[in-house]
Amino acid sequence: MKRRNIGCRHAMPVQPTYIIGTYNEDGTPDFAPITWVSQTYRDDEEPLLVISMWGTKKTKQNVHRTKQFTVNLVSRDMLELVDYFGSTSGKNGPKTALLYSFSCAPFVCAPALDQSRWVCECEVLQYVTTGKSDTFFCKVHNVQLDERLEVAEWGVDLTQLDPVVYSGHYQSIGEYLGTIGDFYHP
Ligand SMILES: Cc1cc2nc3c(=O)[nH]c(=O)nc-3n(C[C@H](O)[C@H](O)[C@H](O)COP(=O)(O)O)c2cc1C
Repeated sequence: MKRRNIGCRHAMPVQPTYIIGTYNEDGTPDFAPITWVSQTYRDDEEPLLVISMWGTKKTKQNVHRTKQFTVNLVSRDMLELVDYFGSTSGKNGPKTALLYSFSCAPFVCAPALDQSRWVCECEVLQYVTTGKSDTFFCKVHNVQLDERLEVAEWGVDLTQLDPVVYSGHYQSIGEYLGTIGDFYHP
């Protein structure tokens, strides 16, 4: 096979799409899609969620101020909502043009979207600034899962969550293929 060089802009930042929930100064909620989300570890078994935000968006300001937020996984039935949250800013007032409901997360002071099947509750431990981006390293206080869904020993079958994948555009995922060790048998 021969490959051609197509330039640095075509790196492959393919991510699940998440909506970040924060509280504004006046206690109203703000929600915005952020897909630059990953994970690392410290010196213990607890994972740290890593999330990067560019510019001066309201979500970033709220995260700096409150240090707490929710990460709401977007499923295909939430496409209109994520598109709306992503094309408006809480800096211009509350996002109330679409109907949606939210609840206070039980482990952090942040709003969680009732429609999301998977919600992670996070607290910022530290952050690093690179140009206009801030990357936050966060303790995971809790993960909520739709109680109708199964959790296997190896985790949750993503097809149950029906996540929207973002790679510059929205896509969905395909079939379940297996887990580590299912394919290589020395
Ligand atoms: C699908 C999608 C993914 C996005 N991912 C990110 C991201 O990873 N980091 C970021 O800084 N902004 C990202 N954005 C942009 C913000 O969601 C957008 O600036 C939003 O209007 C911010 O709203 P806020 O000012 O209420 O926080 C994304 C937008 C969309 C539609």
